[in-house]
Amino acid sequence: MKKKRIAIFASGNGSNAENIIRYFREAGSPDVEPALVVCNKADAYVLERAARLGVPSVVVPRKDFKNEELVTKILRDNEIDFIVLAGFLVMIPEYLVNLYPGKIVNIHPSLLPKYGGKGMYGSHVHEAVVAAGEKESGITIHVVDEHYARGPILFQAKVALLPSDAPDDVAAKVHELEYAHFPRVIGEVIEGKL
Ligand code: GRF
Repeated sequence: MKKKRIAIFASGNGSNAENIIRYFREAGSPDVEPALVVCNKADAYVLERAARLGVPSVVVPRKDFKNEELVTKILRDNEIDFIVLAGFLVMIPEYLVNLYPGKIVNIHPSLLPKYGGKGMYGSHVHEAVVAAGEKESGITIHVVDEHYARGPILFQAKVALLPSDAPDDVAAKVHELEYAHFPRVIGEVIEGKL
Protein backbone atom coordinates (compact mmCIF):
# COMPACT_ATOMS: atom_id res chain seq x y z
CA MET A 1 0.00 0.00 0.00
CA LYS A 2 1.43 3.41 -1.00
CA LYS A 3 2.62 5.36 2.02
CA LYS A 4 0.82 8.56 2.85
CA ARG A 5 3.40 11.32 2.38
CA ILE A 6 3.15 14.20 4.83
CA ALA A 7 4.65 17.68 4.61
CA ILE A 8 5.44 19.33 7.94
CA PHE A 9 5.16 23.15 7.85
CA ALA A 10 7.21 24.86 10.58
CA SER A 11 8.64 28.34 11.11
CA GLY A 12 10.99 27.99 14.04
CA ASN A 13 12.65 25.59 16.44
CA GLY A 14 10.98 22.45 15.04
CA SER A 15 10.92 20.24 18.14
CA ASN A 16 7.46 19.00 17.15
CA ALA A 17 8.62 18.41 13.57
CA GLU A 18 11.52 16.28 14.83
CA ASN A 19 9.25 14.38 17.20
CA ILE A 20 6.80 13.62 14.36
CA ILE A 21 9.57 12.48 12.01
CA ARG A 22 11.08 10.19 14.63
CA TYR A 23 7.67 8.80 15.57
CA PHE A 24 6.79 7.70 12.03
CA ARG A 25 10.32 6.43 11.45
CA GLU A 26 10.38 4.39 14.65
CA ALA A 27 7.01 3.62 16.16
CA GLY A 28 4.19 5.13 14.16
CA SER A 29 1.92 3.60 11.56
CA PRO A 30 4.01 2.05 8.76
CA ASP A 31 2.05 3.70 5.99
CA VAL A 32 2.86 7.31 6.86
CA GLU A 33 6.06 8.95 5.66
CA PRO A 34 7.29 12.42 6.67
CA ALA A 35 8.43 13.42 3.17
CA LEU A 36 9.11 17.16 3.32
CA VAL A 37 9.66 20.05 5.70
CA VAL A 38 8.36 23.42 4.48
CA CYS A 39 9.65 26.53 6.23
CA ASN A 40 9.19 30.26 5.63
CA LYS A 41 12.51 31.30 7.21
CA ALA A 42 15.91 30.32 5.80
CA ASP A 43 17.54 30.51 9.25
CA ALA A 44 15.00 28.44 11.18
CA TYR A 45 16.45 25.67 13.30
CA VAL A 46 13.85 23.21 11.99
CA LEU A 47 15.88 23.14 8.73
CA GLU A 48 18.93 21.87 10.61
CA ARG A 49 16.80 19.21 12.25
CA ALA A 50 15.42 18.11 8.85
CA ALA A 51 18.92 17.90 7.35
CA ARG A 52 20.18 15.86 10.30
CA LEU A 53 17.19 13.51 9.98
CA GLY A 54 17.56 13.21 6.20
CA VAL A 55 14.19 14.77 5.39
CA PRO A 56 14.12 17.08 2.34
CA SER A 57 13.18 20.67 3.08
CA VAL A 58 12.22 23.76 1.12
CA VAL A 59 12.15 27.41 2.14
CA VAL A 60 9.15 29.37 0.91
CA PRO A 61 9.31 32.99 2.09
CA ARG A 62 6.07 34.30 3.61
CA LYS A 63 5.35 36.50 0.57
CA ASP A 64 5.52 33.48 -1.77
CA PHE A 65 2.73 31.57 -0.03
CA LYS A 66 0.32 33.69 -2.05
CA ASN A 67 1.85 32.12 -5.19
CA GLU A 68 -0.57 29.25 -5.74
CA GLU A 69 1.34 27.87 -8.74
CA LEU A 70 4.67 27.80 -6.89
CA VAL A 71 3.37 26.17 -3.70
CA THR A 72 1.09 23.72 -5.50
CA LYS A 73 4.03 22.59 -7.68
CA ILE A 74 6.26 22.00 -4.64
CA LEU A 75 3.61 19.85 -2.98
CA ARG A 76 2.74 17.97 -6.18
CA ASP A 77 6.41 17.34 -7.08
CA ASN A 78 6.84 15.83 -3.60
CA GLU A 79 3.58 13.85 -3.90
CA ILE A 80 2.29 15.25 -0.62
CA ASP A 81 -0.98 13.74 0.63
CA PHE A 82 -1.35 15.52 3.98
CA ILE A 83 -0.07 18.71 5.65
CA VAL A 84 0.88 19.08 9.31
CA LEU A 85 1.35 22.58 10.78
CA ALA A 86 3.78 22.44 13.68
CA GLY A 87 4.58 25.96 14.77
CA PHE A 88 3.88 27.53 11.40
CA LEU A 89 3.33 31.28 11.53
CA VAL A 90 2.00 31.99 8.04
CA MET A 91 -1.76 31.98 7.47
CA ILE A 92 -2.73 29.04 5.23
CA PRO A 93 -4.16 30.49 2.00
CA GLU A 94 -7.60 29.39 0.92
CA TYR A 95 -6.23 27.67 -2.22
CA LEU A 96 -4.28 25.31 0.03
CA VAL A 97 -7.32 24.55 2.22
CA ASN A 98 -9.24 23.77 -0.98
CA LEU A 99 -6.43 21.59 -2.33
CA TYR A 100 -6.22 19.59 0.93
CA PRO A 101 -9.77 19.53 2.33
CA GLY A 102 -9.73 17.96 5.81
CA LYS A 103 -6.07 17.10 5.25
CA ILE A 104 -4.36 19.97 7.03
CA VAL A 105 -4.02 19.72 10.81
CA ASN A 106 -2.58 22.24 13.24
CA ILE A 107 -1.56 22.15 16.85
CA HIS A 108 -2.26 25.10 19.09
CA PRO A 109 -0.69 25.40 22.57
CA SER A 110 -3.89 26.22 24.45
CA LEU A 111 -7.38 24.84 25.08
CA LEU A 112 -9.15 26.51 22.14
CA PRO A 113 -11.28 28.49 21.77
CA LYS A 114 -9.50 30.14 24.74
CA TYR A 115 -6.26 31.93 23.87
CA GLY A 116 -6.64 31.51 20.14
CA GLY A 117 -6.86 34.09 17.37
CA LYS A 118 -4.68 36.97 16.28
CA GLY A 119 -1.29 37.28 17.96
CA MET A 120 -1.85 34.16 20.04
CA TYR A 121 1.18 32.05 19.23
CA GLY A 122 4.20 30.68 21.10
CA SER A 123 5.04 32.43 24.36
CA HIS A 124 2.26 35.00 23.89
CA VAL A 125 -0.24 32.23 24.61
CA HIS A 126 1.47 31.11 27.83
CA GLU A 127 1.93 34.70 29.03
CA ALA A 128 -1.80 35.34 28.57
CA VAL A 129 -2.70 32.09 30.40
CA VAL A 130 -0.49 33.03 33.39
CA ALA A 131 -1.76 36.62 33.41
CA ALA A 132 -5.33 35.32 33.57
CA GLY A 133 -4.47 33.07 36.51
CA GLU A 134 -5.68 29.95 34.70
CA LYS A 135 -5.53 26.72 36.72
CA GLU A 136 -5.00 24.60 33.61
CA SER A 137 -3.76 24.81 30.05
CA GLY A 138 -3.21 22.29 27.31
CA ILE A 139 -3.14 21.59 23.59
CA THR A 140 -5.66 21.60 20.81
CA ILE A 141 -5.19 19.70 17.55
CA HIS A 142 -7.65 20.81 14.90
CA VAL A 143 -8.39 20.66 11.20
CA VAL A 144 -7.44 23.81 9.31
CA ASP A 145 -10.33 24.94 7.17
CA GLU A 146 -11.35 28.31 5.80
CA HIS A 147 -11.91 29.41 9.40
CA TYR A 148 -8.30 28.49 10.33
CA ALA A 149 -8.07 28.19 14.13
CA ARG A 150 -11.82 27.55 14.39
CA GLY A 151 -11.63 24.35 12.33
CA PRO A 152 -13.09 21.13 13.81
CA ILE A 153 -11.26 20.08 16.98
CA LEU A 154 -9.73 16.60 16.72
CA PHE A 155 -8.11 16.27 20.14
CA GLN A 156 -7.44 18.21 23.33
CA ALA A 157 -5.32 17.38 26.37
CA LYS A 158 -5.07 19.36 29.63
CA VAL A 159 -2.39 19.94 32.24
CA ALA A 160 -2.80 21.48 35.71
CA LEU A 161 -0.96 24.71 36.43
CA LEU A 162 0.50 25.84 39.74
CA PRO A 163 0.12 29.44 40.94
CA SER A 164 3.92 29.58 40.92
CA ASP A 165 4.14 28.56 37.24
CA ALA A 166 5.74 31.19 34.99
CA PRO A 167 5.06 31.28 31.23
CA ASP A 168 8.15 29.13 30.59
CA ASP A 169 6.89 26.52 33.03
CA VAL A 170 3.54 26.46 31.23
CA ALA A 171 5.35 26.17 27.88
CA ALA A 172 7.34 23.18 29.14
CA LYS A 173 4.19 21.44 30.40
CA VAL A 174 2.38 22.11 27.11
CA HIS A 175 5.31 20.91 25.01
CA GLU A 176 5.24 17.62 26.92
CA LEU A 177 1.60 17.16 25.86
CA GLU A 178 2.47 18.03 22.26
CA TYR A 179 5.23 15.43 22.09
CA ALA A 180 3.04 12.81 23.76
CA HIS A 181 -0.01 13.19 21.53
CA PHE A 182 0.53 15.05 18.21
CA PRO A 183 2.18 12.25 16.20
CA ARG A 184 -0.39 9.65 17.28
CA VAL A 185 -3.31 11.96 16.45
CA ILE A 186 -1.79 12.67 13.01
CA GLY A 187 -1.62 8.92 12.36
CA GLU A 188 -5.21 8.44 13.51
CA VAL A 189 -6.52 11.22 11.25
CA ILE A 190 -4.63 9.87 8.23
CA GLU A 191 -5.93 6.36 8.92
CA GLY A 192 -9.47 7.76 9.16
CA LYS A 193 -9.86 6.86 12.83
CA LEU A 194 -10.56 10.47 13.87
C1 GRF B 1 4.44 24.65 19.66
O1 GRF B 1 4.23 25.09 20.99
C2 GRF B 1 3.13 24.53 18.95
O2 GRF B 1 2.03 24.23 19.78
C3 GRF B 1 2.94 25.90 18.39
O3 GRF B 1 4.22 26.37 18.03
C4 GRF B 1 5.18 25.70 18.85
C5 GRF B 1 6.19 25.09 17.93
O4 GRF B 1 7.27 24.67 18.68
N1 GRF B 1 2.07 25.85 17.25
P1 GRF B 1 8.40 23.82 17.89
O5 GRF B 1 8.90 24.69 16.76
O6 GRF B 1 7.76 22.55 17.40
O7 GRF B 1 9.48 23.56 18.94
